[in-house]
Amino acid sequence: MFGNMVCSGSMERLIQVTQELSMARTLERVMEIVRTAARALAWADGATFVLRDGDKCYYADEDAISPLWKGKRFPMEICISGWVMRNRHATVIEDVFADPRIPADVYRKTFVKSMAMVPIRTADPIGAIGVYWTEKRRPGEELVKVLQALADATSVSISNVYLYQELSERIAELTRQKELAESAILAKNQFLANMSHEIRTPLNGILGMLQLLQLSGLSDEGGGYARLAQDGATRLLALLNNVLDISRLDAGGLALEQDAVDLDELLRSVEAHFEHEAQAKGLGLAFDQAGAGTPARFIGDATRLRQILFNLVGNAVKFTPAGVVGVSVRCTHVRGDGRARLHFTVSDTGIGMDDRQSGVVFDNFTQADGAHNRHYEGAGLGLSIAAKLARMMNGSICLDSEPGRGTDCHLLVEVRIAQEDAQPLAERRTPAWTGDVLPEGTGGAEDAPSRLLLQRVPQPDDSTLEPRRQG
Ligand SMILES: Nc1ncnc2c1ncn2[C@@H]1O[C@H](COP(=O)(O)OP(=O)(O)OP(=O)(O)O)[C@@H](O)[C@H]1O
Ligand SMILES: [Mg+2]
Repeated sequence: MFGNMVCSGSMERLIQVTQELSMARTLERVMEIVRTAARALAWADGATFVLRDGDKCYYADEDAISPLWKGKRFPMEICISGWVMRNRHATVIEDVFADPRIPADVYRKTFVKSMAMVPIRTADPIGAIGVYWTEKRRPGEELVKVLQALADATSVSISNVYLYQELSERIAELTRQKELAESAILAKNQFLANMSHEIRTPLNGILGMLQLLQLSGLSDEGGGYARLAQDGATRLLALLNNVLDISRLDAGGLALEQDAVDLDELLRSVEAHFEHEAQAKGLGLAFDQAGAGTPARFIGDATRLRQILFNLVGNAVKFTPAGVVGVSVRCTHVRGDGRARLHFTVSDTGIGMDDRQSGVVFDNFTQADGAHNRHYEGAGLGLSIAAKLARMMNGSICLDSEPGRGTDCHLLVEVRIAQEDAQPLAERRTPAWTGDVLPEGTGGAEDAPSRLLLQRVPQPDDSTLEPRRQG
């Protein structure tokens, strides 16, 4: 009678166990759930969890009133779990000592008198679940069905565990590879930073000596050589500074300063830097008056802003054989919290770029056309650095360029305006400023190239600015 009894709550228990199994992430947890559930569902005195290990049955786990065979391995042929796995179906044994499939010696040392066993994964068993009683009992069909349902849920859960483990291992491996790659990049950046620093120190010495040499009464020829050497060393220093910056930027080790910036001074310093080069090439250099409402002073990183503008204007001058390079600035909007958005535009009438080229020039060490290397010096770092710095200033750089017609480069940055500095630059500046900024020979804002340039320079709003390429 008792043998046919299935606990009235066994369905609820089975559902609960199935839910627990679905959340198990390790084989150990699966076994823990199953051994307890099997024993409870069968009102048994013990339960075992057996796994197939080649031609052996491995008694991996158990829950019993006294020890059974946990941790032991038996050949498939001589143990009942092996029989269940080989025959792919459940068995019930009312009297273990009367059944020839049972190795009596092994059972005599235990409390077991009767038992039931079901295979895990009937189609191709990977294990078995056994339940045991201290007295002779014949478990009914209902109980075997419940145990088989438990074994089926166990099989699904084991597959999930393997899948989960495989996934976890793959994720761990990918994470490891990513970390390795990141630490390699960090090491490379550190190396670049160290090397740049180490090379810069003697290079500064060389530059100083070359300057002294030129003051030491050299012949015309000697002076010419010293000047050439100085130009070369200056370029090398600029390159090293760029390499140092890009490695710092890529490693996230560059912080912005908070200076009080005078926009007029900033623009004049950029202009003064390129005046001679532009003049020597016969280019017009037109720094337009700041747009209405542009703040005269603001808080930002003056050095880094100048660095961005140096590269943008430097590029415009470098890649423009004839015509005009124009620079304009305006404030696109001021927020209530004192933050303002400045929009600088650097326009040229130079060689320009096609869409493919302007799509790659923001990458480190990339020039629009490899062949340029022969005509235009540079390492292809300037735009990449400028774009990263602009991003740190909550802004961006975008290019609007056309081969043979020229390039408009838009720089957007966010700055802070102190209340007392909210006076716009346009109101503060004397009218003489416009005339001052044009290089000799360009004839002021009224001359043809400037007019041409002003027509070409778009004055987009933040919202309407649709650059072809952005960095
Ligand atoms: N105004 C421009 N007109 C035409 N091509 C440009 C212009 N600005 C940039 N480019 C193209 O984009 C490339 C990348 O510019 P970037 O400033 O990064 O490098 P670079 O000027 O060549 O070298 P570096 O700035 O490191 O000295 C340039 O080599 C050039 O091919
Ligand atoms: Mg450049």
